[in-house]
Amino acid sequence: MTPVGFLETSVIYCDDNLHRLAQFPAESIDLIYLDPPFFSNRHYEVIWGDEAEIRSFEDRWQGGIQVYVDWMRERMIELHRVLKPNGSLYLHCDWHAGHYLKVMMDDIFGYRQFQNEFVWYYSGGGASKRRWARKHDTIFFYTKGKEWTFNVDDVRTEHKWDRGQRRADGSERDYEKGKLPDDVWEHHAVMPWSKERIGYPTQKPEELLRRLIAASSNPKDIVLDPFAGCGTALVAAHQLDRQWIGIDISPTGVNVMKRQLQRRAGADGIKLIGMPVTERQLRDLKPFEFQNWIIQSMHGSHAPRKSGDMGIDGYSFMLHEPIQVKQSDAIGRNVVDNFETAVKRSGKEKGYIVAFSFGKGAYEEAARVKAKDGLQVVLLTVADLMAGRTDLVTPDAGLFSADEPMPEARPPEALPTVEELALSEWGQEVARDLRRAAEEPADYSDSN
Ligand SMILES: C[S@@+](CC[C@H](N)C(=O)[O-])C[C@H]1O[C@@H](n2cnc3c(N)ncnc32)[C@H](O)[C@@H]1O
Repeated sequence: MTPVGFLETSVIYCDDNLHRLAQFPAESIDLIYLDPPFFSNRHYEVIWGDEAEIRSFEDRWQGGIQVYVDWMRERMIELHRVLKPNGSLYLHCDWHAGHYLKVMMDDIFGYRQFQNEFVWYYSGGGASKRRWARKHDTIFFYTKGKEWTFNVDDVRTEHKWDRGQRRADGSERDYEKGKLPDDVWEHHAVMPWSKERIGYPTQKPEELLRRLIAASSNPKDIVLDPFAGCGTALVAAHQLDRQWIGIDISPTGVNVMKRQLQRRAGADGIKLIGMPVTERQLRDLKPFEFQNWIIQSMHGSHAPRKSGDMGIDGYSFMLHEPIQVKQSDAIGRNVVDNFETAVKRSGKEKGYIVAFSFGKGAYEEAARVKAKDGLQVVLLTVADLMAGRTDLVTPDAGLFSADEPMPEARPPEALPTVEELALSEWGQEVARDLRRAAEEPADYSDSN
């Protein structure tokens, strides 16, 4: 992390970018890339689905396109302010909003500062029989001043001519150096089998970002992505030895991009600012967001909803032991009881329930299960987790006093059946997810 004025790099802010940008010093950023969300259909628009992102979505959409443009305008004014006099900005749009945004951009940057309408053409995938298949995104390239970085030799393309062919004036082409780059670039969208793929439909390919960053910045320059998503621009910046700063309103997104930066770019020393850190803040998170926070704090993986592992929200790191997350207090005996069934069904001998607190019955039940079957149900409080304690074990039956005897084990036939589990809170949630997944095909292109 290199401080520039009071600007730190290798930082991801979990915040509304408007609020965060207001705290950045003027003229401190060399290159900005932004890929703001836009309504094409709600499924593509809301990527992480957590509360902060949905609230931001609703702000933008209550009044249609004009509200959206105004929403973008106030952010663009801040972005223009923080850009260095010789800095550049790339605004990635899809066809729904591009034209509206171009007029707004000309207003802020000046018509003459518009350098290119860069077209990223991605063939393949679904096509339409009712109109021309929509196969490109538009990226507007603006510069703040009259001087800017453009490393043309780093982004040359291959000549399409056969070697040895001369220009019309008879002069020779330099085939080794390559062709001067033009404003249409063909590259496939992120493929389902690609290593960089996170799995949401509007993820941009790293190669596209490497190209823009290589052209419009130099090593050690500062690259900012104020709608950082899963961090594609930051990964590309790190790979190219640029400094970077990311902002995203979604805590889920921030965690994903941190992992992508570590995995895809070998980045370390990444600082997250603005993530929920107090128990109060965690209590206020939406259930989905809370669950993400817990699983990620345990470095675990999320349960694939389709698997039908009812009651299992995720799996622990390496050993893949089931985790159940409850955003409530005084968890009782029956939760442990039901979870025991789910753990047994998963074939593991240990599982974790995470909640704000547990009742005495829950501890007793966990001890009973351990004594009877050797099955460990670890009851982890959020406070334990915040203190980094994932090493806790199930209490032994001996911890409970003789004058308060352990409850009798429930006979096996009294354990909840699959049908009962399906009717439970989590069963209903699984059913809802499955219905939603069936209604919303995750296809990037228009395939009518
Ligand atoms: C289209 S995605 C960016 C994808 C990114 N280019 C990539 O390839 O990974 C848009 C992102 O903007 C975030 N976002 C929405 N409203 C925001 C706001 N007001 N401030 C910061 N981020 C916001 C969303 O959470 C989402 O991650």
